[in-house]
Amino acid sequence: MKVFYSVIILLCMLMSSVKSYAGDKDQKILVVYYSWSEGKNTETLAKFIQEKTGADIFEIEAVKPYPSDYNKCVEVAKADIQAGLKPAIKGKVQNLDQYDVIFVGTPNWWSTMAPPVLTFLSDNDFTGKTIVPFCTHGGGGEARCFVDMQKAQPNAKFLKGLTVRGHKPQADIDESIRKSNGVNNWLKEIGVLD
Ligand SMILES: Cc1cc2nc3c(=O)[nH]c(=O)nc-3n(C[C@H](O)[C@H](O)[C@H](O)COP(=O)(O)O)c2cc1C
Repeated sequence: MKVFYSVIILLCMLMSSVKSYAGDKDQKILVVYYSWSEGKNTETLAKFIQEKTGADIFEIEAVKPYPSDYNKCVEVAKADIQAGLKPAIKGKVQNLDQYDVIFVGTPNWWSTMAPPVLTFLSDNDFTGKTIVPFCTHGGGGEARCFVDMQKAQPNAKFLKGLTVRGHKPQADIDESIRKSNGVNNWLKEIGVLD
C-alpha cells in the first residue's frame, strides 16, 4: 500500500513539473525581430504580436548596418549568406533565461533568415525553450527561413510559424495585418491566445 501511495505522489509531482505551452498563461514571452526595409514589415508584424500577447520586445540590430540602397543590400546579403556569416549585433536581451517562449522574426533574405538573426540564434542557448518563428517576404514565402532557424537551435522546441507577405509602404502591411484574422487565428492555434 505504501508503495502504491508513493507512486501516486511521485506521479503528481512529475505532472506538476511538466509544462505544456498551451493553456499555461504564466509563461513569459519575448518577441525578437530584425527588420531592414523602410517599410519595416517584420517590425510591424513583431509589434502586432507584442500588442496581442503583452510580450517584451527586442530589436536585433547589426553593428555594421546593411547598405541602405536596396541593390547594394541585396548584393552584400547574398555574399554574407553564401559565406555563412554571422555579423556582430548590438546589445543583448537582458535576462533571456526568464523567457519561456520566444517569437523570432526575420525578413526572407535570399530564401533564408537575415544574417543578424542567425547571429542571435547562434549566440544564445534556447535548450528547453519554445521558439515561434515568423517571417515577412516579397513573394517567396517562408522558403528555408524556419528550417534554417531550427538548424541553428536544434535543442529548442519550435511551434508553427507565421508567414506574411510584406508590402510597402508600412501603413499597407499594418492595415492588412489588422484587417486579417491571420495573426489572431495563428496565436490561438499555437495556444498563446485563448
Ligand atoms: C537582401 C534582401 C533579400 C531578399 N530576398 C528575398 C527572397 O529571397 N524572397 C522573397 O520573397 N523576398 C525577399 N526579399 C524581400 C523581403 O523579404 C521583404 O520585402 C520583407 O518583407 C522585408 O522585411 P523588412 O521590412 O522587415 O525588412 C529580400 C529583401 C532583401 C533586402
